[in-house]
Amino acid sequence: MNYRVEQHPDHHRLRHITIDADAAAAFVREVADLSEQRLTYVPYLRLIAADHLQNIVGGDFAEHINALVRDRATGGFTVAVEGGFETMDQRVAFGTAVSHAIGIPNFDDMTGNYYACFEVKDTDKSDSYLRQAYRLFTLHTDGTYVREHTDWILMMKMAEHDAVGGESRLLHLDDWEALEHFASHPLASLPLIYQSPPSKNYPVKVEKTTFYEQDGKACVCFIDQFVYPETIEQGRYLRDLSDSMEASQGVVSLHLPPDHLVVLNNHFWLHGREAFEKNPNLYRLLMRQRGYFRKERS
Ligand SMILES: [Fe+2]
Repeated sequence: MNYRVEQHPDHHRLRHITIDADAAAAFVREVADLSEQRLTYVPYLRLIAADHLQNIVGGDFAEHINALVRDRATGGFTVAVEGGFETMDQRVAFGTAVSHAIGIPNFDDMTGNYYACFEVKDTDKSDSYLRQAYRLFTLHTDGTYVREHTDWILMMKMAEHDAVGGESRLLHLDDWEALEHFASHPLASLPLIYQSPPSKNYPVKVEKTTFYEQDGKACVCFIDQFVYPETIEQGRYLRDLSDSMEASQGVVSLHLPPDHLVVLNNHFWLHGREAFEKNPNLYRLLMRQRGYFRKERS
């Protein structure tokens, strides 16, 4: 077995997985012909990348990470490789191998691909908080405005320099003091309209309830920017919910060094981002993938 699983130093619910240097080097050799472009053009090669990782890392790696991301008590993990990577192709192949050990990413309409890489810099002219460095990116779930299921999200730090602050902020629903209050509220199960701004390239309105149940446990669907309540009462409910989450003692900052990735269950984990400290040279490149759990079929 070429990996180890430990308690995450920043969060009691997360695990941190380290893949050793020999296995990392072997993976890089195996995926040398799987460029970013080939993985984009040929979907089955993404599963071949996952197969290489499983064969090289060995043990029950795939079973282990699948169990972690589905487990309500945990629902997430980070992964690092000893020695890191040298090229963007290697990083994309690694993130793709991990995501495809779990499921299949949804088509990302913002980029027209199965993943998105986006930059955060000193200046930004976009139409959502995603790339705005100097303001708090409030806690939310992903995939609120799409029709597809978004069971999990993967974020990988591809590059970074001159960045202080901007850490991920995470909240597990079961660490939120007010979960019971908001999840049992009469508006919790009311379908609300979600619609994204033009940059997402997804000109569709969908209806989602703020809370729903899986295995008898409350799950959440929420992002402040894309939900369109229709009454003052609904607006107050969403404002109070967001304010309560932001003030929760359960919110934890997660430090994600370059080449590390984090996978979270999107049904009961919320994520956001701290503001960065002002720096004209600020640069971060993040890859995201989000998708559904594979139904096991032969
Ligand atoms: Fe997000």
